[in-house]
Amino acid sequence: MSDTYASDTLNELTPEPADVRRVVVLISGNGSNLQALIDEQTHDRLGGEIVAVISNVADAYGLQRARDAGIDAVVLPHGEYDSREAYDGALIKVIERHEPDLVVLAGFMRILSSRFVQRFHGRMLNIHPSLLPAYRGLNTHAKALADGVAEHGCSVHFVTEELDGGPVAIQAVVAINEGESEASLKEKVHAREHLIYPIAVKWFLEGRLRLDGDAAVLDGTPLPPQGLRLSHADAAEELDEDLGDV
Ligand code: GRF
Repeated sequence: MSDTYASDTLNELTPEPADVRRVVVLISGNGSNLQALIDEQTHDRLGGEIVAVISNVADAYGLQRARDAGIDAVVLPHGEYDSREAYDGALIKVIERHEPDLVVLAGFMRILSSRFVQRFHGRMLNIHPSLLPAYRGLNTHAKALADGVAEHGCSVHFVTEELDGGPVAIQAVVAINEGESEASLKEKVHAREHLIYPIAVKWFLEGRLRLDGDAAVLDGTPLPPQGLRLSHADAAEELDEDLGDV
């Protein structure tokens, strides 16, 4: 086991003014959801600042996206640790040195220990490519196609110890068309992910979205189990953008 890790700017962390809400994003791969968050930040619309991106995979492309945006990119390879508990303990330390208000899981492909989940209870969000509680776990698009359902989508939820089981904040729905392929469905869902994740993050950072017991609460009102279903038009209005035909 080792507690060494690589950081681009480890010794150059500059404290932000106290009122800037701080976000740490965890990734394992491409980081297109991270990019959607970075894009909102670039336009001063995120409601806070991504202060670090941490990956358990050294060559995750999302790290490059972080570097390109001038964000501290940290590699903490899980292979160097004997156990999940040891890795998660090291990860907690790395995250906490960045003092986040919110931890965002954006394609972080690890099962989390209960210690880790408890540490960030109520301030950790995940995005999952299904209309939860349907299709927890992997291969959600293939499962939806195999079942012949008419609708699929994605969910942003608070992270609890139940895998993909925490209270949902926002969902976006896509229709499954005749002859839909797994690739085309995945692409459509991904595009919706890029819309709803920045909205959920912004609402959290603005203090509008929070976890209260078993429910996600928006503007003081507990949301239903499937969260708020955001249409394409709603998302466009919220992001104050002409989204075209996403
Ligand atoms: C997304 O499909 C997300 O729902 C899931 O992991 C994938 C990450 O994609 N949790 P990307 O790395 O953000 O492109």
